[in-house]
Amino acid sequence: MSKIAVIVGSTREGRQTDKLAGWVAKELSKHADVETLDLRDYSMPFFDEAISPRYNPERKPTAEVKKWLDKVAEFDGYAIVTPEYNRATSAVLKNALDYLAYEMENKPVALVGHGSTGGAQAVANLRMALPGTGAVTIPQALFFSDHLSESINDAGELKQELRDKPYGPQTQLETQAKSLVWYAEALAAARQAAK
Ligand SMILES: Cc1cc2nc3c(=O)[nH]c(=O)nc-3n(C[C@H](O)[C@H](O)[C@H](O)COP(=O)(O)O)c2cc1C
Repeated sequence: MSKIAVIVGSTREGRQTDKLAGWVAKELSKHADVETLDLRDYSMPFFDEAISPRYNPERKPTAEVKKWLDKVAEFDGYAIVTPEYNRATSAVLKNALDYLAYEMENKPVALVGHGSTGGAQAVANLRMALPGTGAVTIPQALFFSDHLSESINDAGELKQELRDKPYGPQTQLETQAKSLVWYAEALAAARQAAK
């Protein structure tokens, strides 16, 4: 079974992204081994290394950063759940991505965005940034603008009305989850064959 990380892209007090990530993790766990990575558990300063991580074979990351890099390296694929802040992804998530060297190389990422207007610009922002890490973003994306605290319960379940909506978020997430696992398996086989 593929190992997939769900990355929670917000750390602020009172955040809503963790709700959305809970639903994404619950659905994905029907298809893969899922672990949620909460950036609150990987507190890192603003990236300030002298050399880009991908071009620094002598790199000696701090213990905090190493914990993040080692954890990210464990997975075959990722679902990144991002809020939209000022028409982009969150600074804390972009900062965490800037620390990566080859941990996401040739691995797939599914993007789930949310915000007052659905998070499309945060997702577009990540589609531009992620190729720099070597990751491959899958074609589907999910945008969520319904009030999350009312739409998803603490057990990570979407309210029935939204589950039943034709071509609604539930169907979209199921399609995206299957696609992510398909890419995770295909790229894991390709990485193995290239060794
Ligand atoms: C600083 C800031 C900027 C925001 N900018 C946008 C925006 O550009 N577009 C949008 O749709 N929502 C925007 N929002 C609304 C957030 O996407 C929304 O509050 C969401 O819940 C944020 O995720 P979080 O609760 O996990 O932090 C902004 C919120 C904040 C705090």
